[in-house]
Amino acid sequence: MTAEGKAEVPFCFEGKRLLARRGEVISSALFSHGIAVFGRHAKDGSPQGIFCANGQCAQCMVIVDGLPVKGCMTQVRQGMNVTACDGIPGLPQADSEAKGFRDAPTRETDVLVIGGGPSGITAALELAGHGTDVLIVDDKHRLGGKLVLQTHSFFGTVQDCCAGTRGIDIATRLASEAAAHPNISVMLNATAVACYHDKKIGVVTESEYLLVQPKRLLVAAGAREKALAFPGCDLPGVYGAGAFQTLVNRDLVRPSERLFIVGGGNVGLIAAYHAVQAGIGVVGLVEALPEVGGYKVHRDKIKRLGVPVWTSHTVKCASGADRVERVTIVEVDRCFREVPGTERTFEADTLLIAVGLNPVNEIYEQAKRFGIEVYCAGDSLEIAEASAAIFSGRIAGREIARALGRKVEIPAEWRKRWEILKRKPGKTHEIEVAIAESGLFPVIRCVQEIPCDPCIHVCPRDMIKMKGDPIFGVPEVVGDECTGCTKCVAVCPGLAVTLVDVRSKGPDALVHVPFEILEDQVRVGDEVDAVDSDGAPVARAKVEKVMKRKTYDRTLVVTLRVPKDKAMWVAGFRLQDPGISLPVVARPEPCADSETIVCRCERVSAGEIRDLIRSGVRDLNQLKVLRCGMGACGGKTCESLILRLYQEEGVEAAAVTRFSQRPLVAEVNLAMLAGEEDRE
Ligand code: FES
Ligand code: FES
Repeated sequence: MTAEGKAEVPFCFEGKRLLARRGEVISSALFSHGIAVFGRHAKDGSPQGIFCANGQCAQCMVIVDGLPVKGCMTQVRQGMNVTACDGIPGLPQADSEAKGFRDAPTRETDVLVIGGGPSGITAALELAGHGTDVLIVDDKHRLGGKLVLQTHSFFGTVQDCCAGTRGIDIATRLASEAAAHPNISVMLNATAVACYHDKKIGVVTESEYLLVQPKRLLVAAGAREKALAFPGCDLPGVYGAGAFQTLVNRDLVRPSERLFIVGGGNVGLIAAYHAVQAGIGVVGLVEALPEVGGYKVHRDKIKRLGVPVWTSHTVKCASGADRVERVTIVEVDRCFREVPGTERTFEADTLLIAVGLNPVNEIYEQAKRFGIEVYCAGDSLEIAEASAAIFSGRIAGREIARALGRKVEIPAEWRKRWEILKRKPGKTHEIEVAIAESGLFPVIRCVQEIPCDPCIHVCPRDMIKMKGDPIFGVPEVVGDECTGCTKCVAVCPGLAVTLVDVRSKGPDALVHVPFEILEDQVRVGDEVDAVDSDGAPVARAKVEKVMKRKTYDRTLVVTLRVPKDKAMWVAGFRLQDPGISLPVVARPEPCADSETIVCRCERVSAGEIRDLIRSGVRDLNQLKVLRCGMGACGGKTCESLILRLYQEEGVEAAAVTRFSQRPLVAEVNLAMLAGEEDRE
């Protein structure tokens, strides 16, 4: 269940009566009341808030009825008493009477699938379709994984991964197919926490700890966001782009007024787009590389709306009292060294980190060590787009079915398709735009090779063809029989098609552009700044028409009137006031790198870790003398940051011993683990 309806579930935070929506998790409910600080750290009293909103980092800890829980994973219950986690949570009162304990129940299944995202569900459907019993366990309140956060349309192919359909709609479709299948059982709010030498998997549900004994195991647990260490990275208000999408797209919370983003991959670019859709000002986005790594069409979308994208820049620091108030950025050279004197500071209440993902694969690694017949799919196997995860799941499902003795073919075409869908963007071609004197025709600004094909299937006159590879090419317009149906404008997931109408004899042309922002953001008669693909102004334009289409329910087609000689360059119109992206102070505040917090759970700084590296420590487990890696997340958040410090200190990765991985991989209530009989 996800949050729904109006806020009507009463609960208390720090003695204050608040309302949550039904099914809402604590962190989202608190954010909707403007509360971003959930507690104070035991070491130095620093404010604590969310980072991942995905159950991975443990930064969101609050106390519920005396026990510590993750605010981002725990749904609000009527009358719940939530308090801030100030310091180390106390132990519950010891009972005077002896308790009874019972063994954990064991459940058998053909296949246990850990993770109900796109790869987990599609694998389960393949398996179930071949007569195999499948149990899916997922730690969220509904199936769908990251698809639930994707309110934008899917890329990929129409034929086999629903390109042109919104991720959230695909999640709903897949979840209902899984729920309806008699061979599939689903356990929600259930976390796989360990596997054991007897080949059983420990799973914690809301009410019990149980063991699952599968014939085969599939880990499709997705990915966690990478953290980034810089001065102020630990302030509430600095969190992952996925966490932001969870708040805004899944839980319909508006957590920010002015947002800054670091990272120009698809996740960062899309987060910026989702923010503008939610009416949140996006001050800017920085990317350390000379070009963004995400799709050009995503970059173009946000630039058209007025979001600046600064490449060869990174974040230098975030500052503020109890949460982010300012963000300072700096230019970097080709070796990622800061260019002195290029610092600029902006006002922002939130800084999103979108610097990549790490696979969630601890159980997979443990299972291999114990000789369990284990498979891996989706982001747990390889970080890629959700369309690729769908294929990865299908292939894994059939591989497992085959291993269980079912007669199953794995079409060679699937593997080829999977390889294509997970490719990084290819070559960018020159956009061919000429001044048109007359006629009616689409203009396609999708000039980068990416796996996407909805436009070539939608044209009733078959006027759009793929140049080069049928999936990974670039589309082009052939023929001149356009009827002006605007289907190509509405279907393109990259919003990269416009329809130009220069049939009138007057001085103006009409340009039909796609628009996915709230309807009340554009009205007939409005004067807007029409812009080109890069967001540069082309002309003042008048909104002639705003059209809703039944088939593309959340994409409007807006008709702009512009001078004929400008029409071919118009790709959209600006929405955001450029004033939001102006720097606010001439001299940025000094930022001390040595005080940067690297291990958030235990608040260990870069300076402390560097000292030990310089003294010759090469085993991360020895850093535990600082309590590094010993926090609630078990080192999942800080390990890659520490490895980066080693790299910066000139120590080769091969010379460094990683943290030892031990069960359990997530926090477990001890009374539940022990099987206490009268545990509430
Ligand atoms: S914010 Fe809740 S676990 Fe990361
Ligand atoms: S950040 Fe969690 S243990 Fe270091």
